[in-house]
Amino acid sequence: MSSDGYNVAIVGATGAVGQEMIDILRERNFPVKELRLLASARSAGKEIEYNNQKITVQELGHDSFENIDIAIFSAGSEMSKEYAPSAVEAGAVVVDNSSAFRMDEDVPLVVPEINPGAAAGYKKRGIIANPNCTTAVTIMALKPLHDIGNIKRVVASSYQAVSGAGTEAIEELRAQTLAWANSEEIKADTFPHQIAFNVFPHVDEFMDNGYTKEEMKLHNETRKILEDDNIALTATTVRVPVFRAHSVAVNIETEKPISVQEAREALNNFPGIRVVDEPENLKYPMPIDASGKDDCIVGRIRRDYTVPLGLSFWVVGDQLRKGAALNAVQICELLIGEHI
Ligand code: A2P
Repeated sequence: MSSDGYNVAIVGATGAVGQEMIDILRERNFPVKELRLLASARSAGKEIEYNNQKITVQELGHDSFENIDIAIFSAGSEMSKEYAPSAVEAGAVVVDNSSAFRMDEDVPLVVPEINPGAAAGYKKRGIIANPNCTTAVTIMALKPLHDIGNIKRVVASSYQAVSGAGTEAIEELRAQTLAWANSEEIKADTFPHQIAFNVFPHVDEFMDNGYTKEEMKLHNETRKILEDDNIALTATTVRVPVFRAHSVAVNIETEKPISVQEAREALNNFPGIRVVDEPENLKYPMPIDASGKDDCIVGRIRRDYTVPLGLSFWVVGDQLRKGAALNAVQICELLIGEHI
């Protein structure tokens, strides 16, 4: 890598997260020398603007990574498994948004505000993993509370926006809403059920233990990022008809007592978190306020009176940003900064 800028490839550049990534690289003035945009054959030849420059999307192939310093993958885990090794072989460091390598013990799973030091572990396989979007939003609120109270158990229920399922899912909610308004037939192609004016407790595939993969990702990834296998976490992940930003209702049990005031302070002092907690003025976090924003917002902080030492709160974050593209670009910043 060189100090006059870095050659960056985005795999999945035409997707919901890929598009966000391009915006965030520009917003944060990431020192890009060459930006290579990769997607499927369907998008090859399409032009995307970056810093007043039109970049032609190229079809992803095993030979796409020549001279690339950092390759950010956001095209699903099958693409990552197939092409990340080629990127590493070509000399790039891979920052992977998919679940393909997250639980690999030789691949660090990094949220820069939480475990920046872990990123150095990328040297083992040349890959750094970005957490699942719901994990990223939830763990931003868990970390400062874990630091002061040592969390033993978490119960989380998510309200997940359609954008977490990609551009086709965003279009499906829009099309179903229009069809409903026009009294036309509502078609469900991307999701298993109608999502407009509906919710379903089903994100990702079901597993033998009755949980979905999304729910178990929350459990496994939280333990890995916090480096604490004593945390027990049970989740129910729910898809809701919201375009953007995930919300999570969280109950924690801690080893040490945390007052509501202490929790507020710890959360407010944590980078990337903003507390909005004035229920008396009808102010609490909502997806429409978190959409397009970098900070995760926490509110409804209260004692969980059903357990001796517990708190209940509500956290909302833009899963395309902190849950995916922003976190990935922050990892890239770690790579070129002092941490590695
Ligand atoms: P494309 O737009 O050409 O299909 P999202 O999750 O928002 O739908 O985005 C998925 C991203 O992954 C898109 O950029 C998509 O490109 C890309 N992608 C999907 N399948 C492939 C593939 N076989 N090869 C390369 N890129 C792919």
